Amino acid sequence: MANARISGLGAYVPEKVYDNAYMESIVDTSDEWIIRRTGIEKRHISADDEYTTDMGTKAAEAALKDAGISAEEIDMIIFATVTPDYFTPSCACVVQGRIGAKNAMAIDYNAACSSFVVGLIMAQQFISSGAYKNVLVISADALSKATDYKDRATCVLFGDAAGAAVVTATDEPGIISFDMGADGTGAGSITSLAFRNDTEELEKRIGGKKETIWMAGQAVMKFAVKAMADSSQRALDKAGLTYDDIALVVPHQANYRIVDSAIKRMGISEDKVILTIQKYGNTSASCIPVALCEAVETGKVKKGDKIVLVGFGGGLTYAACVLQM
Ligand code: UT7
Repeated sequence: MANARISGLGAYVPEKVYDNAYMESIVDTSDEWIIRRTGIEKRHISADDEYTTDMGTKAAEAALKDAGISAEEIDMIIFATVTPDYFTPSCACVVQGRIGAKNAMAIDYNAACSSFVVGLIMAQQFISSGAYKNVLVISADALSKATDYKDRATCVLFGDAAGAAVVTATDEPGIISFDMGADGTGAGSITSLAFRNDTEELEKRIGGKKETIWMAGQAVMKFAVKAMADSSQRALDKAGLTYDDIALVVPHQANYRIVDSAIKRMGISEDKVILTIQKYGNTSASCIPVALCEAVETGKVKKGDKIVLVGFGGGLTYAACVLQM
């Protein structure tokens, strides 16, 4: 059985910025409220003609470059998004064609903000079974295109970004353990409508557009803190490790208060955690790879370090993994 490790990482964040002053100009909010309640100072927004696959392609190309392999060496592309360009073709197929990964099967999947961690776990399963050698995991979301800019409770939170990882078969340690799960009884806590004619859901949307994201913020917060702390602990237990063995925890960046409460529950200090929420807001499943890229680039994480990635999101879903860089 081969191990699976991250051999390359890539991230992409669009240029345009909506800072808190801009949010103050479009909804009844304030810089003070947004920072105190969320920790967010600004968010990056895709151009009008820039979509999820465009951002995903850029992150994928950066990850391939970092891994030092060609697109033709990729056996499978798994792409996570809640804001696809199309229902069909999948974003994964669009990217496969663009980058020339002609030997790769390509599919989309959706575990909302937990998706990047889930994707690493799925990649590991295909690799450790011996089926594949290189799997490209991509998370990208143009959340701004699914945001109700009349709803102050959600529009101040979201931004756009993409992240990608090449996961490769190796004899070295890589993904050591994982934990993941779902609680479908909380399905109504974060919603965005597709074909279902759900008038109750539609009425919640101030801007009226069915694709926009609606959220029961308090309920999600409550779920998130416990789910992240518990899932992370179960992954550590499976690895036979404690937080003392861990160089860095990379949590989903939905709200500074969620991260702060989760790390208190984990019993770790903030210097063991990377925070990017202030710069990018919540970029769905891209939060974790974008933060991980930054941790590598700034030397917060070095080769050989053991780290924890942990996310939660719509579904409701959660996932954590322990890995050695
Ligand atoms: O990626 C996973 C999905 N998302 C999340 O994880 C988000 C989880 N939830 C949250 O981050 C928080 O619940 C929010 C940031 C969304 C809201 O913070 P909160 O502390 O839960 O506030 P709240 O919903 O209890 O609202 C408190 C007050 C309300 O006013 P009243 O009823 O007390 O008069 C809201 O109307 O704050 C008001 N409010 C705002 N005020 C100024 C809500 N949004 C805003 C705003 N600016 N942007």
